[in-house]
Amino acid sequence: MLIRQIQLNNFRNYESLVLPFSDGVNLLYGDNAQGKTNLLEAVFLSATTRALRGSKDKELIRFGCDEAHIGTQVVNNGCTHRVDMHLRRNKPKGVAIDEIPIRRSAELMGLVHVIAFCPDDLAMMKEGPAERRRFLDMELCQMDPIYCSNLINYNKVLQQRNNLLKQIGNDPSLKDTVSVWDDQLVRYGSDIILRRRSFVEELLPVVKEKHSLLSGGCEDLVLSYAPNVTEDMYAEKLIRGLDHDLFMKATGTGPHRDDIEVTVNDRNVRLYGSQGQQRTAALSMKLAEIDLVRKRVGESPVLLLDDVLSELDRKRQLQLLSEINDLQTIITCTGMEEFVQLRTPTDSIYRVEAGTVQKQ
Ligand SMILES: Nc1ncnc2c1ncn2[C@@H]1O[C@H](COP(=O)(O)OP(=O)(O)OP(=O)(O)O)[C@@H](O)[C@H]1O
Ligand SMILES: [Mg+2]
Repeated sequence: MLIRQIQLNNFRNYESLVLPFSDGVNLLYGDNAQGKTNLLEAVFLSATTRALRGSKDKELIRFGCDEAHIGTQVVNNGCTHRVDMHLRRNKPKGVAIDEIPIRRSAELMGLVHVIAFCPDDLAMMKEGPAERRRFLDMELCQMDPIYCSNLINYNKVLQQRNNLLKQIGNDPSLKDTVSVWDDQLVRYGSDIILRRRSFVEELLPVVKEKHSLLSGGCEDLVLSYAPNVTEDMYAEKLIRGLDHDLFMKATGTGPHRDDIEVTVNDRNVRLYGSQGQQRTAALSMKLAEIDLVRKRVGESPVLLLDDVLSELDRKRQLQLLSEINDLQTIITCTGMEEFVQLRTPTDSIYRVEAGTVQKQ
């Protein structure tokens, strides 16, 4: 998969930009606050409809403007497609593939599979479970359209059930209607649990291998899926938890509370790992994703690396760079020194300055 070109209008600090990308390593460099991350954000958004930094659509629109537009030309399976995304201040975004509007973001997912890697991702192991669920969802949604649509439906039903829990506080007679939402939660949620479990199982040997390589064979990493509830107990646990849910006014059971547990040499890396071990585990997971996408989708993903090299030691930098040599990669950095030192071959170098990009 490739991103041939991106066009931005009134996106973040870009008024108007047309930027072609090379097939190999694309390096964006420039001082702080010039628009490097904004550019990666636009690429990520147009591939996934999700914001890289959890921003709202209106924050992505250039100050003082009402609309933003991102147009990308992407290649999937040898065919070129055009993706257009319109962001509006107070309305949902509009997305079209080859000029045909799509109704659900699931239709876009996977057209071009991107794997983003930012400094925050390196902290994935020490953060709460939400970060690790985000990892699962981002990957599965791009690889598996059924997962994506089940997740969207699950989240909608969950929201509706939570709204109902709040209403029951004022009107207890509504309590009987909870079961309608429970049935749907179990239907969508069980499928999510099954797909997450098999994804983590498939990921395990690959992550293990990457981590062993990065740690010089000294560390054994084990990854396991830690579901909040298993599919066989799901319906029952929802019923048993109803009074507690009513008290909390939120649903406490289901895959929205899942986690992935990671141990290094049999110790939970989140609780006992050093910062280096936690970062290495996160890097291993990202590298494993690349292999898994190749295996499952049969094409290489596009890698977005935001300022991440400077956060790694030399050995991990070299390992990361050796994995990307046949991928389309867009890398941001503030200076060129690290690339010169690492002797990384680059196909295109761009200088980013105050919302403009100059090819060098
Ligand atoms: N909606 C917006 N409209 C206009 N400008 C914006 C908007 N949102 C953010 N910016 C500007 O974009 C700039 C930040 O861009 P970005 O995060 O891409 O910087 P960067 O080049 O990645 O910097 P760093 O090296 O510090 O990571 C800031 O100056 C910010 O004011
Ligand atoms: Mg940045």
